[in-house]
Amino acid sequence: MTIYLDNAATSHPKPPAVYESLANCLQIAGANPGRASHKMARLAQQIIEDTRLKLARLINASSLNQIVFTFNATDALNMAIKGILSPGDHVITSRLEHNSVLRPLQNLAQKDISLTFIDFSPDGLINPKDIEKAIKPETKLVVITAASNVLGTLQPVAEIGAVARKNNLLFLVDAAQVLGVMPVNVEEMKIDLLACSGHKGLMGPPGTGLLYVGNRAQVKSWREGGTGGDSLSIFQPSLLPTGLEAGTHNLLGIAGLSKALDYLLKETIEKIRDQELSLMMCLLQGLREIPEVTLYGTLDLKQKVGVQSFSVTGYSSDEVAAILDEHFDIAVRGGLHCAPLTHQVLGTAPDGLIRVSVGAFNTIADIETFVLAIKEIVKG
Ligand SMILES: Cc1ncc(COP(=O)(O)O)c(C=O)c1O
Repeated sequence: MTIYLDNAATSHPKPPAVYESLANCLQIAGANPGRASHKMARLAQQIIEDTRLKLARLINASSLNQIVFTFNATDALNMAIKGILSPGDHVITSRLEHNSVLRPLQNLAQKDISLTFIDFSPDGLINPKDIEKAIKPETKLVVITAASNVLGTLQPVAEIGAVARKNNLLFLVDAAQVLGVMPVNVEEMKIDLLACSGHKGLMGPPGTGLLYVGNRAQVKSWREGGTGGDSLSIFQPSLLPTGLEAGTHNLLGIAGLSKALDYLLKETIEKIRDQELSLMMCLLQGLREIPEVTLYGTLDLKQKVGVQSFSVTGYSSDEVAAILDEHFDIAVRGGLHCAPLTHQVLGTAPDGLIRVSVGAFNTIADIETFVLAIKEIVKG
């Protein structure tokens, strides 16, 4: 069986109850949620609202209506960035960001929105003081990833949130690599907008994601259409969450996500984090013994999620990933991981790095097999 170490892209496997709900949700609740008053539509709507509530509790949102369902983190980031900014605004972001932040911002940079990119330290950390120094009178938004998807480094989100709040800026967090593996509290961290996938650490199916919209943020709709309510009006309702959720929901995905959240709450984030820390300790110990391996980013496990990137002397990152796949049946990712500026700073573009990312279902045996495989590759 494949040893799956590509959980930063999407987690695999999912908790067993997720597969079960995918198999039977459409049979028992396969109606259009929120569009009719019959029993099946009500059941479908109940699944959506229950899941919304679980997500709201997970991040300490003050109301379930602040949780907007999206199709992935990219969708949520586009919704937030394009729904907040107007010509003349200035945005502070970092060189650690994923293309799902960089590309929407770059698109807006052609429409009179200016950008400042903050650097990160060799360890992979952003300094909140650099954010403060970059503030201009026209700054509206700070957009930062909570953890780099290349280096795994956890960013000082609460400190950056405090800087943003003190200066009356909106703070958007890309939580794609942290939700489900680290506690997140939007109130305490002063987060106004939080975008996340449902299919990574939250262990839900692909095609799920969320945007949290706090009270200080007014997000313009970027997709208009049927919402199942206020149907006399030909204007998009402004009330959340429906104002940002036009069209039929991904009911199947949300039903799966609901079961994944039950699993996460039962197992607890703390336990999953502890398990990932032991896997990472074993991984780092093993890789550090191999002289041909260069590790990137901090090696202090308290400062990172279960993601480690590295290079192997004499091989491209894609070669190593292909050999692992073909000869050892181990799934990792090589290349740039959709974070071009991070690689520019690290000096690892255009080849990129091999990225290993552990998940809740990996074992120490998986990691030991992986390290042995790298040793064999190095031996040729
Ligand atoms: C930090 C970060 N942001 C955003 C994304 C995009 O996530 P999605 O595939 O759910 O759109 C990813 C995906 O790898 C990511 O790692």
